Amino acid sequence: AWSWLLAVVVAYAIGSLSFAVIISRAMGLSDPRSYGSGNPGATNVLRSGNKKAALLTLVFDALKGYVPVVVALLLAPRFGWGEGTIAAVGLAAFIGHLWPVFFRFQGGKGVATAAGVLLALNPALGAATLLTWLIIAYFFRYSSLAAIVAAAFAPFYQLLIWGAGPMAVAIAVMSLLLVLRHAGNIRKLMAGTESKIGSKAGKPA
Ligand code: G3P
Repeated sequence: AWSWLLAVVVAYAIGSLSFAVIISRAMGLSDPRSYGSGNPGATNVLRSGNKKAALLTLVFDALKGYVPVVVALLLAPRFGWGEGTIAAVGLAAFIGHLWPVFFRFQGGKGVATAAGVLLALNPALGAATLLTWLIIAYFFRYSSLAAIVAAAFAPFYQLLIWGAGPMAVAIAVMSLLLVLRHAGNIRKLMAGTESKIGSKAGKPA
């Protein structure tokens, strides 16, 4: 009966794998927490100039949201898990990225991980949210703005098309946390000092 709790804890541990740090370390690059925005995420790793490291960070941070939800969906019939458990597993992986147990609870902003969770929870919603991100990123060239706008839309897509339920709650909580994590980015966007996608981290003067 407590199997759902184990699933949530495992998802949280998987979400705690900060791939920006792990991949940078494995590739002999400097720690992403030491340059640019200081955020351990794909956008900031891109500021190092290493596109491969940024792409790998994006893919693995998304997979750590995607895989736990897909595995939970596969195990659900066997353990009698309902939508609440599936939604909680996705939320737990996301929370792991924001407050990683393996990295002194100093995590990232959750964009790639949320994308992975959404794609697994509801592929059509994931695709709609990704498309929203791409449109804003294409026209405005700010990764943070694209993430904030996509996160703001996701719960409404879910509510309007698929209705209320545990999944809608988990998505709304993820979006809220994601936007709160971008407080610094929002300040920079308003001040006109946010860096655009692809611009390198400023070298110390
Ligand atoms: O991936 C997070 C992104 O939305 C913002 O990252 O490094 O520009 O603060 P960053």
